[in-house]
Amino acid sequence: MNVNSPNSLLTVPTGQLKIPELPPTSVSVGSKTILLSLVIPTYKERDNIKNVVKTLSQLLDESIPRDYELIVVDDDSPDRTWEVAQSLIGKYPQLRVMRRQQERGLSSAVIRGWQVARGSVLGVIDGDLQHPPEVLTQLFTAIERGADLAVASRHVDGGGVSSWSIVRRFLSRGAQVLGLIILPGVVGRVSDPMSGYFMVRRSAIAGTILHPVGYKILLELIGRGRIGEIAEVGYVFCERQEGESKVTWKQYVEYIHHLLRLRLSTGLLGKFSNRTRFPIGRFIRFGLVGFSGVFVDLTVFRLLRTVIHLGLTRSTIFSAEVAIVNNFLWNDLWTFGDISKRQQEPHQRLKRFLKFNAICLAGVILQTLVVNLLCNALGMNEYFAKLIAIAIATIWNFWLNLKLSWRVTDVK
Ligand code: GDD
Ligand code: MN
Repeated sequence: MNVNSPNSLLTVPTGQLKIPELPPTSVSVGSKTILLSLVIPTYKERDNIKNVVKTLSQLLDESIPRDYELIVVDDDSPDRTWEVAQSLIGKYPQLRVMRRQQERGLSSAVIRGWQVARGSVLGVIDGDLQHPPEVLTQLFTAIERGADLAVASRHVDGGGVSSWSIVRRFLSRGAQVLGLIILPGVVGRVSDPMSGYFMVRRSAIAGTILHPVGYKILLELIGRGRIGEIAEVGYVFCERQEGESKVTWKQYVEYIHHLLRLRLSTGLLGKFSNRTRFPIGRFIRFGLVGFSGVFVDLTVFRLLRTVIHLGLTRSTIFSAEVAIVNNFLWNDLWTFGDISKRQQEPHQRLKRFLKFNAICLAGVILQTLVVNLLCNALGMNEYFAKLIAIAIATIWNFWLNLKLSWRVTDVK
């Protein structure tokens, strides 16, 4: 029940995405905590939400009567899903509704819901009945038996997807393989890292500041939480009855960004970045720009070696210079765009380019030394040596350019 009038909308939390240790007293009537808080993130689910609330309430009234709550977190859906949900509060006293108007996104919606939750177990289920509600009892039993996290998985026995296209299956599996390469310690802990249907013990994630990106909140919890035992329950991802999926290419790009960010902010790299306040997001952008530069560099290197038949060292230097110009333009526009737009004078831009060039040329010298060392001293394949040299030079270039070329001069 809400402390205000029973049908009122929940106040939307702001600030850090951090789950409190215990339920916030402001919402727990008589400070009674409950067993399960199940968040239902919705966006344009007007035609599904009534059925979802009814089905979940019937199921949970049987298994844990009056010891659960449903929290619909709607991102100001144009079809006013939040209004339909709000109209159900009178009939379903365990239902609470949040309408977000300043923030958007599936992952942050779930966390905002958990921030006002009163349960010692926090769960999430889609608001379109594609996650079979009956699996909830098995998830809850797994938590009661000691698991910190219980995940509904399409990839264990009893799991599956109703009728996904080959493309969707390929993309989902492809995303999983990419995750196993970039973040094996996280993605490898579950068979269905893309699942958005699970329960987690509040104590396993409370107090941790979360930085989810896009859809995949499960990765964030495994990557940053104190997750010990993980249980999995097979389920079949059902067909939508109403509305359509909101998954677009944007979610796939966000997924890769999320993997890289988790990679760079957890484990050994995470400890380094926290100690040195290493700007992860900027480094990812710098790395992606550098990646485009690698293609420019290698293409020009190959052309110089095979078409013009230039020597090894001169080919390395010329191809690197062309890549430097490519990288400067993209870094000035994107990676450090927030800084460079405050320094738009032509002489400032020229100064940045010259500094960038000097630092990167030093990086080329470093590359040339590494390439010659690996090829001539160790007999390594020249293209493989070149890739290693580029990686070393990238870290050198980022750190020095951050500090010297695009340095933020805070004018006190
Ligand atoms: N609040 C909020 N904000 N809810 C959202 C948003 C958003 O920006 N985007 C989607 N949702 C809600 C939808 O209303 C639905 O209830 C649920 O999140 C899943 O969204 P779908 O668009 O239906 O995703 P899907 O069917 O392709 O499911 C995929 O993503 C789900 C979430 O991670 C699959 O991977 C599922 O396994 C997964 O649960
Ligand atoms: Mn769906």
